[in-house]
Amino acid sequence: MGNAENTAPAAVIVLAAGAGTRMKSRTPKVLHEIGGRSLLVHAVNAADGTGPGELVVVLRHERDRVAAHLGEHAPEVSVADQDEIPGTGRAVQCGLEQVTAAEGTVLVTYGDVPLLDPATLRDLVAAHEGAGAAATVLSARVPDPTGYGRILRSEDGSEVLGIVEHKDADDSQRAIDEINSGIYAFDLAVLREALGRIGTDNAQGEMYLTDVLSIARQDGRSVRAVVTEDVMMVEGVNDRVQLAQLGAEMNRRILERHMRSGVTIVDPSTTWIDADVTIAQDAVILPGVQLHGATDIGTEAVIGPDTTLRDTEVGAGAEVVRSHALLAVIGADANVGPFSYLRAGTDLGAGGKIGGFVETKNAVIADGAKVPHLSYVGDAEIGEGSNIGAGTIFANYDGVNKHRTTVGRHVRVGSDNVLVAPVTIGDGAATGAGTTVRKDVPPGALGVSAVSQRNVEGWTMRRRAGTAAEDAARAALGAEEGSVARTPAGTAAEEHKEHEQR
Ligand code: UD1
Ligand code: CA
Repeated sequence: MGNAENTAPAAVIVLAAGAGTRMKSRTPKVLHEIGGRSLLVHAVNAADGTGPGELVVVLRHERDRVAAHLGEHAPEVSVADQDEIPGTGRAVQCGLEQVTAAEGTVLVTYGDVPLLDPATLRDLVAAHEGAGAAATVLSARVPDPTGYGRILRSEDGSEVLGIVEHKDADDSQRAIDEINSGIYAFDLAVLREALGRIGTDNAQGEMYLTDVLSIARQDGRSVRAVVTEDVMMVEGVNDRVQLAQLGAEMNRRILERHMRSGVTIVDPSTTWIDADVTIAQDAVILPGVQLHGATDIGTEAVIGPDTTLRDTEVGAGAEVVRSHALLAVIGADANVGPFSYLRAGTDLGAGGKIGGFVETKNAVIADGAKVPHLSYVGDAEIGEGSNIGAGTIFANYDGVNKHRTTVGRHVRVGSDNVLVAPVTIGDGAATGAGTTVRKDVPPGALGVSAVSQRNVEGWTMRRRAGTAAEDAARAALGAEEGSVARTPAGTAAEEHKEHEQR
């Protein structure tokens, strides 16, 4: 049971027309995200995973915004518009207008149920078709069924007689703890026909999809329920409390999947990993890590603690400590952090290093190249094996335009340099400490711009007399005098005497 070949439904209809007012949000409910994807994309992925002939999403509330989101993230789906007639029955009826198939099984799911998976849907189709049922509802037993539709079963329990909504139920029906998840498999022809016979004569004045089940049953057809043990899988999001709960549950499931496939996650309670992230075997994720978007972690890489990576690729054996990266590539065996900030377009080669308090952007740093300390590297190319001295700034912005800097292979940039773009430092070249590089440095040359140093002897004694600095200087000079007798030009000795007299 349950392989895509023999359980592919003719169509899936995903209902997403509701307003979701309890979210109290300007963002449509189904566009809220958990695990790095919208609720709706999770729902569509589950539906798509059954290999349906047709996939339809029913919209109404914020229709254009949601349709645009689908166009971007799930262009294969077709959109159906629900009109002003309310209710799940009407929603499915509008969805069916987009379905061209005349027979077969059609699944109905909700756009706000994010944990549902394709395997559960395939099993539902298999059970439904195996029993030759006209309708099969996915049900669950819950401790508090308040608000849900209740499943009414036949005396022997094998058939479903109908579903009664909470608001329409009497006390004995409200005592039933088997609830309607809102997910169903239907015989397409039965569904079309029965929807035509549904009214709005109920507590909410809506067309109830659930009425299809009692209609089919009254017509003498078989209506079944499949009870799921995994209640979270069929739970919907109605407010932000549930959004957080289902987000945490999704994260827990994602972490478990990675751990079972050979990833070490030291502290699951402080680790957040989006659904699309891929992690190779024997990677180690330390506490306080968030991996977002299309991030990809190579084998034996060590990430964290306290690191956030979004859409970032980390090579095998690399280490990323207490850092933040966005749209970056970190090569195999490279080192990043602590406290590094890698912005979009950072591409660090194998064995390279981006060290403490370094920010990079649009920077290709080749294999074995290092930016170890306190630097900004923007719009740059650094050749293999080069080293950028501590505190170096790639000045890429002249206030109007951004320019690029090219540093060749095996270059030594001294500490505290400013590389004023556009500028090129040739292969094998070097720059002195404190150099402001405004002109190209040819291959093999040493670039220096800092003025040569001049020492004004005895300055402290004259200009900072009476300070601790003076005492320190005199003590040092006195010691030198005593031990190596190399007092400069007599001045120090004279001033020493002056001091003694005071
Ligand atoms: C519905 C079921 C109820 C079940 C519950 C599970 C009916 C009549 N009742 O309750 O038995 O226990 O789901 O959550 O079907 N929607 C539309 N168009 C509409 C109304 C709803 O597309 O006109 C969509 C919503 O966007 C949502 C889903 O259908 O994704 C369920 O709607 P909601 O109002 O939450 O469910 P209920 O009708 O209360
Ligand atoms: Ca709901």
